Amino acid sequence: MSSQKVSRRQFLNYTLMGVGGFMGAAMVMPMLRFAVDPALKANASGDFINTGLKISEITETPTRVDYKLKVQDGWYEAEETRTAWVYKDEGGDVVALSPVCKHLGCTVNWEGDEKHKNEFYCPCHGGRYEKNGKNIPNTPPIGPLDLYDMQEKDGVLYLGNTKTNEV
Ligand code: FES
Repeated sequence: MSSQKVSRRQFLNYTLMGVGGFMGAAMVMPMLRFAVDPALKANASGDFINTGLKISEITETPTRVDYKLKVQDGWYEAEETRTAWVYKDEGGDVVALSPVCKHLGCTVNWEGDEKHKNEFYCPCHGGRYEKNGKNIPNTPPIGPLDLYDMQEKDGVLYLGNTKTNEV
């Protein structure tokens, strides 16, 4: 059996390298995680958000529903309020329309103009839409209001992303 002697200088070098490496890793790992973490997080854009609105409370008259969701933009997390116009059609199916006007993006309102009952109205340039979101010809909007993807959970309406309204 051979004995290897470690000099005092070597022992000190090994110890300092070990402690230094450990401290370096402890400092670098949080920075690395901070830099990479948002890119690794799952994208929540496909999630359905609880609007808090009971399906049983939805009527045939479009009602404005405001709901909140958390949005992650890189390292920045914020709470965003979204809006939908929700009603039940003649068949009892729930319809949830985006309020974003297809002209220049203002917010439309149900019966927002006294002269145009039973329509969505955009106050910015007089854009008009039928109840199902279809844009009325010869008004500024170039397409129908988008539809929200929907789910029902425990009798409550959940909304997802918007999609093209094929009316
Ligand atoms: S933004 Fe709605 S009509 Fe122009």
